[in-house]
Amino acid sequence: MTAGAAAVTGRGFDTVLVVDFGAQYAQLIARRVRECEVYSEIVPASITADEIAARRPAGVILSGGPASVHVEGAPILDPEIYGLEVPVLGICYGAQLIAEQLGGSVGPNARGEYGRAEMTVAGTGGSLLEGLPASQPVWMSHFDAIVEPPPGATVTASTAASPVAAFEDPDRGLYGVQFHPEVEHTLHGLQVIERFLRRGCGARPSWSMDSIIDASVASVRDQVGRGRAICGLSGGVDSAVAAALVHRAIGDQLTCVLVDTGLLRLDEADQVQETFGRHFGMDFVRVDAATEFFGALAGITEPETKRKVVGEQFIRAFERARHQVPDAGFLVQGTLYPDVIESGATTHSSTIKSHHNVGGLPDDLDFELVEPLRLLFKDEVRAVGAELGLPDEIVHRQPFPGPGLAVRIIGEVTPEAAATLRHADAIVREELRTAGLEREIWQSFAVLPDIRTVGVMGDERTYGRPVVIRAVTSSDAMTADWARLPHDVLEAMSSRVIAEVPGVNRVVYDITSKPPATIEWE
Ligand code: XMP
Repeated sequence: MTAGAAAVTGRGFDTVLVVDFGAQYAQLIARRVRECEVYSEIVPASITADEIAARRPAGVILSGGPASVHVEGAPILDPEIYGLEVPVLGICYGAQLIAEQLGGSVGPNARGEYGRAEMTVAGTGGSLLEGLPASQPVWMSHFDAIVEPPPGATVTASTAASPVAAFEDPDRGLYGVQFHPEVEHTLHGLQVIERFLRRGCGARPSWSMDSIIDASVASVRDQVGRGRAICGLSGGVDSAVAAALVHRAIGDQLTCVLVDTGLLRLDEADQVQETFGRHFGMDFVRVDAATEFFGALAGITEPETKRKVVGEQFIRAFERARHQVPDAGFLVQGTLYPDVIESGATTHSSTIKSHHNVGGLPDDLDFELVEPLRLLFKDEVRAVGAELGLPDEIVHRQPFPGPGLAVRIIGEVTPEAAATLRHADAIVREELRTAGLEREIWQSFAVLPDIRTVGVMGDERTYGRPVVIRAVTSSDAMTADWARLPHDVLEAMSSRVIAEVPGVNRVVYDITSKPPATIEWE
């Protein structure tokens, strides 16, 4: 597969570049900048002054990172960047770096400062803190502290442990904050960021849902021209929004393909067909491949083999659908910005981890990729989806693994096991929705282990299968905690599963975090 141009570019938008000294901070900063309606992009710390100048950014933000500029091998910034006349805001490590590189000083702080601190604004507070409360809570995480800001800069705030919690030199476009304005615990953090953008950089608010959609539509039209595109729909948010955007751009030059694997959630295939085929009137191909999937999965119990078999079957089914659209030269994928950053690709290159490909399609399919969500964060994707008129249950759907229920059926995946699990899973999700907890929970689902236990129902002794309920909170699926669901919600799930799902006589709740467990059971 060859990659085409990114379907949205930042061109035409005032852009702020976030220099990445530590990924988790950089992504959050970039999201906050976009909340202020300014387009932001993450760039590596190795970026040169020439590369930055070529991008003509409205401003640059240096993210937090290692504990100290004195740590061995701590990354630095090309010092020529300070001479570009582009306003720079340093956050935490970034602020220390500005001080260190421009003639101030950074020294060890006897106790470091971690977590909440009370910050006192000095004088008028300068352009970033002016008019905000004289004393306010901020979130700190640093070992060293700035002792002296660069010559010419004014100290605008301090805490008990940080004599220089904020400094600025607006004439030179230099700003530094030792605290983390991007985290929620810093009460006025978003205002500080917004002031840097508006007052420091003069950046206009232009990154809105309307402008994102307009830019994507224009760029997809540009890329696809009069060609034909196909898009595999999985029922998930990303492929759904990608399809809706591309459909807005090229209408019936797009064909959507849904492979019903027999391993989707209850009514999922019908819902997707209803939304895209009927409601949006898209050209829609549905491949009913359950028989083939179950046939290929018969007798297989080893988790990795199962995934492989599902992957192979998916490719076969997709190729069958493709024969119905022989002239399709483009494949739409719902790749998101975090996938792009994490795979080490820039917004202008296209190496994406293979498991981020729709259903794991192989590289030798001869398509050019259309990736309209390539520059968007998940919350932006949901907002775009809502704006395009996708129903709530798709826009706010929880993540669902590519191999579907196959990774939640321990042991052999049979049509009967899939039916049992699908039924139990629907009850678990419905009760969570009824309790109004669906959006607080990252994923909630049922698992069907390969064991039987003794029970008693009425006068009868039973020997049935247990169902495991798994519900986790998380922000990125890298780590997760088991959700403290209210007991009455668990009770409702349990009694309904027992009463309504034949063959199930016991329900248990998984109380393991990740790590050591994973979110899925296989
Ligand atoms: P684990 O189980 O590794 O899951 O904690 C982390 C996240 O990834 C999803 N997941 C998958 N998604 N194909 C996918 O597309 C897979 O094979 C797969 N396995 C796990 C899982 O649902 C969770 O959101």
